[in-house]
Amino acid sequence: MSGVEVVLEGVSKTFEDGRIGALTDVSLRLESGDFVALTGPSGSGKSTLLNLIGALDRPDAGSIVVGGEDVVRLQDQAGYRAEVVGFVFQLHNLIPTLSAAENVQIPLLGQGMPRHERERRAMALLGEVGLAGRLDSSPTTLSGGERQRVAIARALANEPRLLLADEPTGALDSETGGQIVRLLLRLRDQHRMTVLLVTNDESVSEQADRVLRLRDGGLEGDSTRASTPRPA
Ligand SMILES: Nc1ncnc2c1ncn2[C@@H]1O[C@H](COP(=O)(O)OP(=O)(O)O)[C@@H](O)[C@H]1O
Ligand SMILES: [Mg+2]
Repeated sequence: MSGVEVVLEGVSKTFEDGRIGALTDVSLRLESGDFVALTGPSGSGKSTLLNLIGALDRPDAGSIVVGGEDVVRLQDQAGYRAEVVGFVFQLHNLIPTLSAAENVQIPLLGQGMPRHERERRAMALLGEVGLAGRLDSSPTTLSGGERQRVAIARALANEPRLLLADEPTGALDSETGGQIVRLLLRLRDQHRMTVLLVTNDESVSEQADRVLRLRDGGLEGDSTRASTPRPA
């Protein structure tokens, strides 16, 4: 398993019949295995950009190519989301009536994977995030950082090549947030994923390989712009 290259060219997105401009002509490139922080003020379009790359929404214009596939025109966007992308959100979205191990198995349901294999994988992933002792715990009994670690284990269940994390440390204290980022960096190294992480915390973004800054729906700075021509 390895990461994927992500290439956006001229991506624009509006809401409410064009009255709200969320993104304007955004171009960027993430190399396979990159760990990139996406920062910018509230309302600058960070979540919109992540949702477009994750095919949770469609741009008005522009192309989004992930691993050589145009995800905007992809027939099977659900398959892309399930097989290529892992999502982590600010709020962990764990199901409180299920155990930690059962939550991690959710992405694996409906794939015909034998139950013991699902359980084995959930156990291994929870071990990787340091929660081997909490397999049977309800999310309601876990701390904020532990819940976020379960959410990360769940996002990794399908061995995604691209991990999209939208302010995963936003609801955590800075020390716990720092632990989560270090965990994500280690998991990137182990799983060879590409990671795009939205954060407004400088102590988080400074740990990334690169930082992209959005302002009013456009990227600032140019060190990472995909418009730089590359040899074929
Ligand atoms: N579903 C939506 N409907 C209408 N406007 C939206 C929607 N999603 C986002 N927006 C608007 O798009 C802009 C960018 O939002 P967002 O991507 O959530 O910013 P950020 O994540 O950087 O805070 C904001 O003006 C926001 O109000
Ligand atoms: Mg947001």
